Amino acid sequence: MTPAPSPIASPNDLEAFWMPFTANRAFKKRPRMIARADGMYYYTPEGKPIMDGTAGLWCCNAGHKRRPIIEAIQAQAEELDFAPNFQFGHPKVFAAAARIAALAPGDLDHVFFAGSGSEAADTALKIAIAYWNVLGKGSKTRLIGRERGYHGVGFGGISVGGIVSNRKFFGSLLAGSDHMPATYDREKQRFTKGEPEYGAHFADELERIVTLHDASTIAAVMIEPMSGSTGVLPPPKGYLKRLREICTKHNILLIFDEVITGFGRLGSAFAAERYDVVPDMITFAKGVTSGAVPMGGVIVRKPIFDAFMNGPDNAIELFHGYTYSGHPLAAAASLATLDIYRDEGLFERAKMLEPIWADAVMDLKEEPNVLDIRTLGLVAGIDLASRPDGVGKRGYDAMEHAFHEEGLMVRLTGDTLALTPPLIVTEDQIGEIVEKTRRVIRAVAN
Ligand SMILES: Cc1ncc(COP(=O)(O)O)c(C=O)c1O
Repeated sequence: MTPAPSPIASPNDLEAFWMPFTANRAFKKRPRMIARADGMYYYTPEGKPIMDGTAGLWCCNAGHKRRPIIEAIQAQAEELDFAPNFQFGHPKVFAAAARIAALAPGDLDHVFFAGSGSEAADTALKIAIAYWNVLGKGSKTRLIGRERGYHGVGFGGISVGGIVSNRKFFGSLLAGSDHMPATYDREKQRFTKGEPEYGAHFADELERIVTLHDASTIAAVMIEPMSGSTGVLPPPKGYLKRLREICTKHNILLIFDEVITGFGRLGSAFAAERYDVVPDMITFAKGVTSGAVPMGGVIVRKPIFDAFMNGPDNAIELFHGYTYSGHPLAAAASLATLDIYRDEGLFERAKMLEPIWADAVMDLKEEPNVLDIRTLGLVAGIDLASRPDGVGKRGYDAMEHAFHEEGLMVRLTGDTLALTPPLIVTEDQIGEIVEKTRRVIRAVAN
């Protein structure tokens, strides 16, 4: 009889998984493992609670392990695992589109689904170019983004995006993209709660770009109303309105990438509502299902949608879509999530908490190495001074210390810490997040 193989002490190692946007070697030396979640907390495999200071990756706005979302996903898996949305359709995706469009302002009435924020960004850029094509203005192809912008990792998104490391390894990107400057000036905006007074004039840079290229070559401008991934840059007062005016004047589409700012993060369904600016398209993802199932999409103004609805009835109007555009599990999860947002008033809650959050986080301004703090909605960015031996080292140590010693998840961009808790956070928990962060900042002072 052959002897049974001896049990393997460590059944798996961490090698096979090439982790996204991760320092793989550092992680695998000292992993930060998460095994389960509930409410405001993650738990390690050993059961240690980790306060979720980041709503996962800016997505779990309703908090974790929400019973209605779990049940909706379970019921949907029983009923319909998958159905194509190419030439067929299932009821919940239509319901989800209607609910999402109803949250958007103006005549942003139509929803094109994707599987992620990156797909949403590339979809919006493609719709913009195709739109001018169907109107017979095929020369309008240029795409304008902004320095420090993040629109995911597809080729469209990184071309319009403005984060150097996300671009420099990937070739020449899309021809014909250009960038406005970022809206941040530390000297003039340092330690601002909410929108800085200084900086609306950065929108005028779009006029310069239009003069350079001519509006007849420009399809769209895409920006995040608040830059998130670059380290939290709230829009200066009046900036977004001015951008809207310039786009309208020159017949250029304005796309708001609301993958982070959508679904309550800034105290309203979309930042478009907060700033009373109606863009031509809004991209969304993350919060639409509170992170429970991948889903993204683009909300499109009616005249854009209508422009495509011509030709024979049996002809496909837009040659674009993903196998998982409007997946049944995602549609079910989004409907349950939107119910929670509505029934628990979570967008209003974020608005109510904004000043409390801002005051609490701003209390960290005297801590060592804090160069700036910016807050907006339930978001905060804390810039720490880089160590002399390299950008990002202090930030990395802070993230590690926060997880292992304080039981807090923070998000990191270089030496900037971002805090973006689920919208269910209590005032006490805000205090807890801030005190943990204070100890972290002190621990990495040297
Ligand atoms: C503004 C913005 N757009 C797009 C994306 C990309 O989303 P995903 O990672 O789902 O592709 C992100 C992700 O953080 C984002 O913040």
